[in-house]
Amino acid sequence: MLTKALGQSHAKAILMGEHSVVYGEPAIAIPLLNINMIVTIILRHDHQQLIKSRYYNGSLSDLAGAYEGVRQLIVFLLGKFNNPDLGFELTLNSQIPQERGMGSSAATSIAVIRAFYELFEEPLDRKTLLKMANIEESITHGSPSGIDTATSSSEDPIFFIKNQEVTPFKIDVPGYLVISDTGIMGQTGLAVSAVRHLFDEEPSKTRRLISDLGEAAAAAKIALQTGDLVCLGQLMTKAHSHLRTLGVSHPHLETLVKTAIEKNALGAKLTGSGIGGSIIALAKNLTDAQHIAEALSEVGAQEYWISPLASQTNMEHLI
Ligand code: MEV
Repeated sequence: MLTKALGQSHAKAILMGEHSVVYGEPAIAIPLLNINMIVTIILRHDHQQLIKSRYYNGSLSDLAGAYEGVRQLIVFLLGKFNNPDLGFELTLNSQIPQERGMGSSAATSIAVIRAFYELFEEPLDRKTLLKMANIEESITHGSPSGIDTATSSSEDPIFFIKNQEVTPFKIDVPGYLVISDTGIMGQTGLAVSAVRHLFDEEPSKTRRLISDLGEAAAAAKIALQTGDLVCLGQLMTKAHSHLRTLGVSHPHLETLVKTAIEKNALGAKLTGSGIGGSIIALAKNLTDAQHIAEALSEVGAQEYWISPLASQTNMEHLI
């Protein structure tokens, strides 16, 4: 066993297909390679098990609330490696805002699992990584599709269908994404339940919306492959309108989407679970992206990032 170890993962943006992905429809998501989660573990000689983060500083056993899934995951990992009483200090160093549709909890579990596997010098394959990370996601969010953990652990955009092998692919198109945070907590569990409730109340209408969203995600993949940004933008805006009808938008999300479109975005939509959280807007070039970002800031966006659609490595963090 090592005396210290490190695990890393990324934030994510769902380009198309949130919510409908829970019902087996395809989705496209992008890891945001410049917004990271880094977990470090340092062994302690006593048996104290300490967690340090921006939001929590204390013992593993007292970790609760939004972190309950992480606590259970760590207990599970210690048991798996036959070391339930191991003394350690685990630090979560996150650039990902919590509960903003950017995959903070998924990124936490991916980085925690990677760090423990490194600590115990065990090889970790992707299937095991995702299976374990989804245990935490189920505790935290209810019935996750697995898209957040799959994206957060990937270096490339993914085409994702629940319970199927993840397909990473390269994007080779111009265009920029503006990712913008309302500053309002999104609530994944609540949003997923709201859609399920609508499904029970109005099954045929909801089924139609979900299947339209799936078709839009498949069409978006073709638009990305053919470089048709105008079509991609239109699909994004249409998806947002469907998500609004599904009941997962929020007045602040509406303001940001409307503002982005007024400022020449090719399309804009909420990203992630909604009812708060973030939007993404598609801009044809960097100048447009900057204008959109400034306008979003003026109408109350808390934080934003500009990212080339094709390569996440040059992402600019503006606030
Ligand atoms: C959350 O980032 C995405 C949802 O589709 C839930 C899920 O897929 O697990 C809303």
